Amino acid sequence: MKAIVVTDEAAGTAGMTLVERPEPAAAINDVIVAVHASGYVPTEVTWPSTWTDRANRDRRPSIVGHELAGVVTSLGYGTTGLSVGQRVFGLADWHRDGTMAEYVAIESRNLAPLPGDVDFTVGASLPISGLTAWQGLFQHGRLQAGQSVLVHGAAGAVGSIVAQLAREFGAYVIGTGRTADREAALDFGVQEFVDLGNDSLADIGGVDLVIDVIGGDIQKQSAALVRPGGTLVTVVGPPEARPGDGLAIDFVVEADRAQLTEIVQRVRDGRLRTNIGTVASLDDAVAAFNPTERTRGKTIIRVRP
Ligand SMILES: NC(=O)c1ccc[n+]([C@@H]2O[C@H](COP(=O)([O-])OP(=O)(O)OC[C@H]3O[C@@H](n4cnc5c(N)ncnc54)[C@H](OP(=O)(O)O)[C@@H]3O)[C@@H](O)[C@H]2O)c1
Repeated sequence: MKAIVVTDEAAGTAGMTLVERPEPAAAINDVIVAVHASGYVPTEVTWPSTWTDRANRDRRPSIVGHELAGVVTSLGYGTTGLSVGQRVFGLADWHRDGTMAEYVAIESRNLAPLPGDVDFTVGASLPISGLTAWQGLFQHGRLQAGQSVLVHGAAGAVGSIVAQLAREFGAYVIGTGRTADREAALDFGVQEFVDLGNDSLADIGGVDLVIDVIGGDIQKQSAALVRPGGTLVTVVGPPEARPGDGLAIDFVVEADRAQLTEIVQRVRDGRLRTNIGTVASLDDAVAAFNPTERTRGKTIIRVRP
């Protein structure tokens, strides 16, 4: 089968190649999915799990991509809850070969049914951004209606979903980003926008929750804005700063069938808009992941037309 692999850690995304790989076999509780569309987070090449398995053995060449939408083609021993021919979407294991390929072996618990009226391209754009936003706001951030949320990168893949879910939940949402992101962020529902290149974050006063996708100095400034009892949630590694009287939590997104179902239902009924920037074929994936100009939103690879 065709697959996009990485073998050279130092080369990063530029080291991706399109190669032939053997089709995967289903392990216990796995299904094999014919991938129709696949998503990718550019930082993936910096994650240790891209290069080693759970026993820390080198697993190169590693097939990249951990988001998928496709159709189940076979079931492994003991697999329950899904059926051959079923449309699914979900989040693949970090330590195993990923979804930027014609087929993937994936544990069934990492998948949710993809309703027939949701396109595969849309389905593949939701797992990482959608689950990260959901878990950041509701599990780790323990958001309550009426609270204020500072959402960094609000025109980006994660931030745009955070902004929409937080608004739906009844929060007051302040988004940040680059100058060119203002309109897009407002469109995704932020009520105020802070241009991080030109405006002062301190001017927004206090907030109850920060969702940080940037880190560094922006995270440090944001920690200082968290009200007593509030939380800074970050997804870019261990927190570098803590609120004076609040929590700092980092997490890595986890697969969750019930949450995927909540997310896709919102896409179907129009409450949630996904943020897709580029759609390319598997043959054009390497070029799509190495753009020469700034892109916005997720890049989705249409593995099957
Ligand atoms: N821990 C987890 O489970 C988890 C899950 C998902 C994502 N993540 C991480 O979260 C980060 C964001 O992911 P994403 O998919 O949302 O990426 P994305 O689509 O690129 O969104 C990030 C947004 O923030 C903006 N931004 C970054 N630095 C900025 C700065 N200094 N000033 C103003 N704007 C800035 C980006 O603009 P530019 O494009 O111009 O830089 C972009 O609009 C990545 O590092 C990713 O690895 C972690």
